[in-house]
Parts: sequence; structure tokens; C-alpha cells
Amino acid sequence: MGESHMDGCSSLCPTLIRQRSAATFSPQGRRNEKTALPQGRRDIGITKALTMHPWIADRMSLIDASGIRKVFDLAAKMKDPVNLSIGQPHFDTPEPVKAALKKAIDDGKNAYSQTQGILPLVERLQEEVDRTYGHQNRKVFVTSGTSGALNLALLALINPGDEVIVFDPWFVMYKHLTNLAGGKVVPINTYPDFQMDISKVEAAITPKTKLIIANSPSNPTGTVASAENMQAIAQLAKDKNIALISDEIYRLYCYDQEFTSPALFNDQTIVIDGLSKSHSMTGLRLGFCHGPSEVMEQMIKLQQFTYVCAPQPTQWAALTALDMDLSSVVEDYKRKRDFMRDNLKGYDIQGADGAFYMFIKAPWGTATEFVKKAIENNLLIIPGNVFSDQDTHFRLSYASDDRNLERGVEILNKIR
Ligand SMILES: Cc1ncc(COP(=O)(O)O)c(C=O)c1O
Repeated sequence: MGESHMDGCSSLCPTLIRQRSAATFSPQGRRNEKTALPQGRRDIGITKALTMHPWIADRMSLIDASGIRKVFDLAAKMKDPVNLSIGQPHFDTPEPVKAALKKAIDDGKNAYSQTQGILPLVERLQEEVDRTYGHQNRKVFVTSGTSGALNLALLALINPGDEVIVFDPWFVMYKHLTNLAGGKVVPINTYPDFQMDISKVEAAITPKTKLIIANSPSNPTGTVASAENMQAIAQLAKDKNIALISDEIYRLYCYDQEFTSPALFNDQTIVIDGLSKSHSMTGLRLGFCHGPSEVMEQMIKLQQFTYVCAPQPTQWAALTALDMDLSSVVEDYKRKRDFMRDNLKGYDIQGADGAFYMFIKAPWGTATEFVKKAIENNLLIIPGNVFSDQDTHFRLSYASDDRNLERGVEILNKIR
């Protein structure tokens, strides 16, 4: 199916292919004997393949990519699929951003930058953050994508055994990166309307709860959290002295109500954000993070010895990107959302008021069975169990051209 993008999933695919071959052959090119799984380790698909190589660290078994691998195995057989699995904007990076990027490269701005980011960009972001929140101690720095910010935040905050509250369905990285950091994910079920239920969060808090991760608009459901819920979760975190990460990467894409950040109500909120989705810059790796300066300092220290910095040419291009008016892009995705909602007949669609995803209840069978049928009909969508403890829904991305959306609707209405 060519180059596939399923956001959190997209980045895994080439890696998976490499890992699979590394797992099958020894460095000398000889086929390895299967090695037994260490005691107590579950056999979880790709993980089993990984553990076949004696060099692989135990922590890699904490990442289970078997669900998405099954989708790729099926998708590999498709010819010219209607691909509604794509987790990134369907338009190319805007021309002014590309021009600024090329200029930065031609001007020789290709070396490392300061770890926290080039001064003009840091100042620009800090000015906006100060204007929006007016917090005394809120510091911003530039990261290598929003995932970079997320990983740094989790590593800087989580002690072994700490519990991290996430909302089910969740963005795939939350679970895996929490596990890698030594934490334990505590999922809060948000079906059927995908809004955060504060009483459920309250009930899930234990002495080990360290962190809550909020994501509005959400991947995979497209749900925009109500202002009341955001205020309540922010207040709860404050009252209980629990860290709160707000993943705001889709904040531009809100169609029916305004975006509300929990940082408006809780000055300790750690906000992660970036230009990947708003400016179609997923490959350029530009994120940023703001929060209490003491936490940001620790994250910057860690960035120095891991990602080093965000790519410098991209940081210069970001200055141009931040000046752009993207209202026509938002209008276009709203129109696409409306088209899908109006034309999918008899489907149970909740949320879908932001980002470019719909998380739709499978009309029959499990989501995996329904997705298999869709793939047999040449439509690529993703089963909900990739993002959830349950397998009842599928994720559809309408970040695609109109013809593809029409074909997708036709297929979905046929197989219902
Ligand atoms: C909710 C969410 N957070 C973070 C990311 C990571 O984005 P980036 O490309 O900036 O690392 C994604 C990408 O799909 C996402 O969907």
C-alpha cells in the first residue's frame, strides 16, 4: 500500500519492517534459533519476534505493535486502496513554509541550535504563551515534534510504578511511552460519547497517581472536551497535586465549539503542542512545550542528551508558519466532516467535532471483523482496539481528497 501513515502508527511501520528482519537474522546473516521468552513475559506478536534476537532489551516487550501489524498485513494486499487511515493532513506543507525552510538551508542554518530552540522562535512562542495565560512561571521551549515533548515529559515525571491516567480510547503513544518510562497506564473508559467523566477520574486516583494525560481534540475520536470538563479536570489535578499533560496538537481543528486548554484553570499544566498537524509539517519535526519552569528545565536537560534540538532549518520555517492564516484549511476540514456525517447512513458517530477523525461504532461484529470486511472491499480504516481496550469501533480519517471520501462513504454504506 505504499507509504502508509496512521500517525502514531505511521512512524512504526518502517521501524517494524527493520525490526522484523533484525529479529529473523543474526548479525552474521545466519537464521537464529527461536529463544524462549523470559519467565513471566507474555507472547505478544511482534514482541515475540523481537525477543528472538538475544540482544533485544526487555523493555522492548513493553511495546505491543501486533494490532497495527495485522492491519498492515491485510493492507499490503490492497491495490489502489481508498485509504482513510491517514493520520496527517492531506495537503502539502504550505509554500511559504517550504520557501522559508529552503532559505534557512541555503543560508547555512543547518547546525545544532541551542537545545531549547533558536531565540527568535522561543521569544515568539513565549510572548504568545504569556499573552494567553499570564502565568508567572510558565516557560516554553522547542522540541523535536510533539512526540518529543511527550516523551521528555513522561521521562522527566514518571517514577517506576507511578500510575498515569489516560482516556480510553487513547493516542497510541501514551500507553507505550508510559510503559517505557516505567509507569502504569490506568485507562478511563469514555464510551459512548468520549467526554471525560470527572467522577470516574476521581474514583481512579490512588496514592500512586502521578499524572493525567488529556487530549482535546482527540485522536482517535475527534472529540473536543467541553469547557466545563476541562475546567473540572484541571481543578481536580490541582486539588490532588497530580501533574496534568494537555496534548493540544489538534487545537486548531475545532468545528462546533472553541478549544479550551486546562492551562487556563491550572497554572501547573504541561502543554505539548506542535505544527505537524496544523501546518502539515509531520516530517519536519517541530513541537513545543510549556509549563512550570522547573519541569521545563529538567526536560531541556534531557533533550540535550537525547534529541539534542529540533531541526534548525525547521525552526526558522516555523517562524513563517506561525504567521499564516489557516482558517481556510479549518473550513475545508469542517466541510469534509459534515459531508461524512451527512452521508454515512445508519452509523453511530459520536464526538467528531474536531481534529480530522471519526471513531465510529462498527454496525456488526467486532471492529476487527468489520475492518477486515472493509479491507476486502478496498477501504482502509483502523480497528479501535489499536487505540482502546475494546474492539467495538473503527477510526476513519477524513484528511483525504473529496473523491476518496465519496468512495469511502459508498463502501461503508454498502457493507453496513
Ligand atoms: C494526539 C497526538 N499527539 C501527538 C502526536 C505526535 O505528533 P508529532 O508528529 O508532532 O510528533 C500525534 C500524531 O499523530 C497525535 O495524534
